[in-house]
Amino acid sequence: MDLMEYQAKELFARHGVPVTLGRVIEDPADAADAAAELGGRVVVKAQVKTGGRGKAGGVKLAATPDEAVAKAGEILGMDIKGHTVHRVLLAPAADIADEYYFSFLVDRANREYLCIASTEGGVEIEEVAHTNPDAIAKVSIDPATGVDDAKAAEIVAAAGFPVGAQDVVRKLWDLFVAEDASLVEVNPLVKLGDGSLEALDGKVTLDDNAAYRHADHAGFEDHASADPLEAAALEKGLNYVKLDGSVGIIGNGAGLVMSTLDVVAYAGEQYGVKPANFLDIGGGASAEVMANGLGIILSDKQVRSVFVNVFGGITACDAVSNGIVQALELLGDQADKPLVVRLDGNNVDQGRKILAKANHPLVTVVDTMDGAAARAAELAAEKGL
Ligand SMILES: Nc1ncnc2c1ncn2[C@@H]1O[C@H](COP(=O)(O)OP(=O)(O)OP(=O)(O)O)[C@@H](O)[C@H]1O
Ligand SMILES: [Mg+2]
Repeated sequence: MDLMEYQAKELFARHGVPVTLGRVIEDPADAADAAAELGGRVVVKAQVKTGGRGKAGGVKLAATPDEAVAKAGEILGMDIKGHTVHRVLLAPAADIADEYYFSFLVDRANREYLCIASTEGGVEIEEVAHTNPDAIAKVSIDPATGVDDAKAAEIVAAAGFPVGAQDVVRKLWDLFVAEDASLVEVNPLVKLGDGSLEALDGKVTLDDNAAYRHADHAGFEDHASADPLEAAALEKGLNYVKLDGSVGIIGNGAGLVMSTLDVVAYAGEQYGVKPANFLDIGGGASAEVMANGLGIILSDKQVRSVFVNVFGGITACDAVSNGIVQALELLGDQADKPLVVRLDGNNVDQGRKILAKANHPLVTVVDTMDGAAARAAELAAEKGL
């Protein structure tokens, strides 16, 4: 899970990283009080899970509380790279002497952690890497020993940070480990006029595999920005990702669903249609799971046809067919789009017989994956006219 800046800063504060929390608001009218409370001169910052907010006009300085209201009004509702701004952070304007870049991340290729640090902060680090690669220090971290005082000193020296930065480096490492993060990035980490350091921005990615040992991380979930269908699928324990096309896809097993996406994308080229989603119903495709999956896909208004692609394994094809028939019964009038079903594997003949006997007007059975993909694409194109 990626955190927004204000959430990352909450974690910073918990781990003693110097930071000013500021105030998060959703209504421009609340900006005046918030700004006054923070000392008048503030920055108004869009809270969205994407980079380059400043460049997009999502970070603005306001000299007075009235100006803060105006800037908040401009930024709230703004679209930044496809993310709608629902919240802004108001923070006191800092007296910046210098801007640095700092991050800890997982270096998978080398089975280590990596620290990237630079005194050329505030701008995009990719740009610095391009124009001034020597200004970027990369220090590898042995997972067994982590960042001790010696390592922190090595990082600070390599980056050219003031010596006092060691303490901040240690605290950011504590956060990285204790919160099971896969990325902690501070850009900019600033030196203030009085020489002290402060994290003015923060980006943290938490490892979802470790969510079970961090009950408090659930509070970071952003329900307002989540796709409602994805949220409904998550609640039902389904692996569902919404895409932009019109052919709904259900399969059992992530590998099969991924190849189904490829086959539908290929077949769809001649009709100008694309996959509408990724939905893996997993191994045990019971009627209920099938009904949940179909229910989610059919409530996507962009969907015009559905391709159910199942390989019978532990759950054999006859069980899946029964699942489809019962799911259609359960859904009743909610099921209103054509379904193309392709079955293979265990008990495929029984499975096909069950579907033939049910003879549901919306269901077409096609024997091959390519043929079924082509039929589903064709149906989506017809319905789109
Ligand atoms: N509290 C603050 N006081 C003064 N200036 C600030 C403050 N916060 C940010 N800035 C200035 O705005 C710049 C951009 O802010 P920030 O890094 O938070 O956003 P961004 O880099 O545009 O967004 P992203 O990190 O998503 O790419 C900073 O480099 C800094 O110069
Ligand atoms: Mg930044």
